[in-house]
Amino acid sequence: MHLNEEFLLKDQNVSTAGDTISLPRHRWYYYKEGFSPSLVKKAIEMLSLEENDLIIDPFNGSGTVTLTCSENNVKSIGLEVNPFTAFIAKTKVKSAKIKQFDNDVKFIIEKVHKPKTSPLQNFSTFTEFSGKTKWLFNSEVLNSYYAGLSNLDNIKNENTKALIKLALIRAIMENSNVRRDGKCLRYRNNWQDLHYNKETYLESLEKRLCIIREDLNCENKLKIPKIICGDSRKILSKSMKEKFSLCITSPPYLNTFDYTDIYRPELFLGGFVNSMEELYKLRLNTIRSHIQAKWEKPIINDFGTMYATAISEILKRQDQLMHCNIPMMIQAYFEDMSNILKMLRNNAKDNAELWLVVSTSAYAGIEIPVDMIIGEIGNKVGWALKEIGVLRHIRKRKTKYSKEIDHLRESVVIFTASK
Ligand SMILES: C[S@@+](CC[C@H](N)C(=O)[O-])C[C@H]1O[C@@H](n2cnc3c(N)ncnc32)[C@H](O)[C@@H]1O
Repeated sequence: MHLNEEFLLKDQNVSTAGDTISLPRHRWYYYKEGFSPSLVKKAIEMLSLEENDLIIDPFNGSGTVTLTCSENNVKSIGLEVNPFTAFIAKTKVKSAKIKQFDNDVKFIIEKVHKPKTSPLQNFSTFTEFSGKTKWLFNSEVLNSYYAGLSNLDNIKNENTKALIKLALIRAIMENSNVRRDGKCLRYRNNWQDLHYNKETYLESLEKRLCIIREDLNCENKLKIPKIICGDSRKILSKSMKEKFSLCITSPPYLNTFDYTDIYRPELFLGGFVNSMEELYKLRLNTIRSHIQAKWEKPIINDFGTMYATAISEILKRQDQLMHCNIPMMIQAYFEDMSNILKMLRNNAKDNAELWLVVSTSAYAGIEIPVDMIIGEIGNKVGWALKEIGVLRHIRKRKTKYSKEIDHLRESVVIFTASK
């Protein structure tokens, strides 16, 4: 297996979203699980891709790939199952006339000054009125947000409407009593003393809108990508109209992280889901990389020698697993990856490349070499493995379920379609 520890992008933070905080448009919504636009740019350069080439990202997340392609005048398609995340990706490539934007912003800010009772006020743990001891938002914050949101329909221009909605959501999350921390939402230190209120919300909102305005103001014309919200396993099962030159993507890692759970506040706030049933349905359409759903059982288990070794070791240590469904999740994950790789191969040009950013994972003290297993799977379904470029070694917190493993490896698995 070509594991390249000297890969040219190693230790350059290309597998993290850190630099998006300061980059125009990318900075409109910080998506912690994203990767860096510089990775996409590098791939475009290395493959000398041009205007008529097509790039696809089947796990488009916040749209790093689609936005970077737009900025570099390359056609792209992004698929993303989570409607909130797809909304971020779609909004980050929208343009608007400054005059129109300013007028619509002025109208919404006036509304936000007069909080309006949100239908989410008593829902789940949303506010103090939900009868719980901890709550995500102080009701004044939620109701200020809702005053803005519920007036968006009075805005005629779809682009400014989306831009303002994104800012409204970002600002309420900045005024939330919780913050994202790894796999969960954690209450901020002394959250009760922070007293987020209408004024702090308005301050965040104005700051966010100002940043968007700044980026709209100094912009070159963007090539608009096609962003489809849905399950890429279903979308890719039909042949695409045009074959792609590059697929660059980062599927969910095999780490039990549930994106529909961590982005649950935004999903409800933005009206992207309206009930727990809808949320569960969405969850069922995600890649089987977590255990928060009753999945369809996987059938295939022929993923090569490395998979066979890892899973048999894990099965020997079942009593050390944090959940009995972990072995099934691991198998289901590779079944999903195998199907995706096969479908991508069918839609690839003869000289296309596939770049997959993945991470190894650990269960019951056994490391699963996800990159190498995917390398074996790709070879089997018609891709030729070029190399596995190591991007970085990450220190992992030792847990009681995985005491022996203290490092994981993030890498980019690179395949070519030409044999
Ligand atoms: C690692 S993130 C991708 C981040 C992206 N590279 C970025 O920079 O924003 C993986 C994404 O896959 C999405 N996802 C999970 N299951 C999916 C499915 N079945 N179809 C499409 N997208 C899916 C998740 O919602 C998540 O946004």
